Amino acid sequence: MADSTKSATLTIGGKSYELPIHAPTAGPDVIDIRKLYGQADVFTYDPGFTSTAACDSTITFIDGEEGVLLHRGYSIGDLASKSHYLEVCYLLLYGELPSPKKLEDFESLVTNHTMLHEQMINFFRGFRRDAHPMAIMTGVVGAMSAFYHDSTDISDPHQREVATIRLIAKMPTIAAMAYKYTIGQPFVYPRNDLDYASNFLRMCFAVPAEDYVVDPILSRAMDRIFTLHADHEQNASTSTVRLASSSGANPFACIAAGIACLWGPAHGGANQACLEMLKEIGTPDRIPEFIARAKDKNDPFRLMGFGHRVYKNFDPRATVMKESADEVLELLGVDNNPILQVAKELEKEALSDPYFADKKLFPNVDFYSGIILEAMGFPTSMFTPIFALARTVGWISQWKEQISDPQLKIGRPRQLYLGETQRDYVDIENR
Ligand code: SDX
Repeated sequence: MADSTKSATLTIGGKSYELPIHAPTAGPDVIDIRKLYGQADVFTYDPGFTSTAACDSTITFIDGEEGVLLHRGYSIGDLASKSHYLEVCYLLLYGELPSPKKLEDFESLVTNHTMLHEQMINFFRGFRRDAHPMAIMTGVVGAMSAFYHDSTDISDPHQREVATIRLIAKMPTIAAMAYKYTIGQPFVYPRNDLDYASNFLRMCFAVPAEDYVVDPILSRAMDRIFTLHADHEQNASTSTVRLASSSGANPFACIAAGIACLWGPAHGGANQACLEMLKEIGTPDRIPEFIARAKDKNDPFRLMGFGHRVYKNFDPRATVMKESADEVLELLGVDNNPILQVAKELEKEALSDPYFADKKLFPNVDFYSGIILEAMGFPTSMFTPIFALARTVGWISQWKEQISDPQLKIGRPRQLYLGETQRDYVDIENR
């Protein structure tokens, strides 16, 4: 971080405190309050971190007002149209687009680590068949630290690299196995002659009774969906991974914590909730009823797939996803999909409503993704596992950045305490 030349003056009780201001390469300046408590005996207060930077980072930048998303400086639009997921993984992990040789070596490394330790199959069998695949993924990924002991020492750069490759390589296998387990079909092993997205589709949809040929249209759409979900600054699940890793927890435990956080319907669980909402709406004539509910302060209902903490413009990922939805559904011959029609009409009516316009609520990444995933054959319960699969590289990139920071401190927020001050114990006979 460059030495700050600017500062902010905070005056409390007639006493002034100078707080350094750091300038970013893009985005707002930050006021450095690290010494504030020691100097002024006060905390700052920011539940939900609406105005708080928890770290510095060089990986991803979002301009919420302009609807811009950059990964290591490259726009998500360019990466979604010109790159592919494993190349984006390399970019996020190592900071630069790879040479052809480096890309080939990286893809070969990932491809040759897609199998899961055979004994881990027993973990799947411990779940009920109706378990949510996210519950299974959280458990199995956490259990990886019980099998891959040779990549849990985070002080060893080589072990950090091994854990990185293992998690990126094995997440599709785990997600596919979680799906197969819940539908009672046999697990399908990965193949080394398939690309990352094709391998995942085959592990999900192939059955031993017949050959399975990956549709290149679906594989390209799957790969693009992975790319659109790869990383997104300090969102809730990434912040969970960073906080877990700040205590020195092993990478598998940290990623399992990220999966658990992503599951929430306000976060990665929104793609499942959004499609369920669109199905509940059912037909365009019911849209006004749901928009009225979303606007009603006394109704907890929200339009799922709408709104975002950072984007106050279109989520650029939603724009690409919407184009993909049109393309994939047309190619699959389901372009008259009634749910897609409801989604497009809902978007149009919401965006023309002052409530959403005034609050700058636009469709986010989750609004269209479920429509594509359902058309590809996935049940809604697999939408968030696919988000978790794709976001693993983002979590790991942020984890690597944090634990290689020599100034790393354990994350330990303070609080505004509103409870009882000290009082004497009352024996039960006197209560
Ligand atoms: C993801 O952070 C990330 O980067 C996340 C993510 C990633 O890639 O990691 O982008 C992925 O999580 C996308 C978001 C998926 N979630 C949903 O689609 C769920 C529906 N949306 C929300 O619940 C909400 O918009 C959030 C959680 C996404 C953002 O919430 P904020 O930033 O805390 O905003 P808020 O709840 O304070 O809302 C501001 C106002 C409120 O009204 P007022 O109290 O000011 O009157 O807008 C209203 C809210 O009631 N509002 C909505 C709404 N979202 C916000 N009203 C109706 N429908 C909605 N969807």
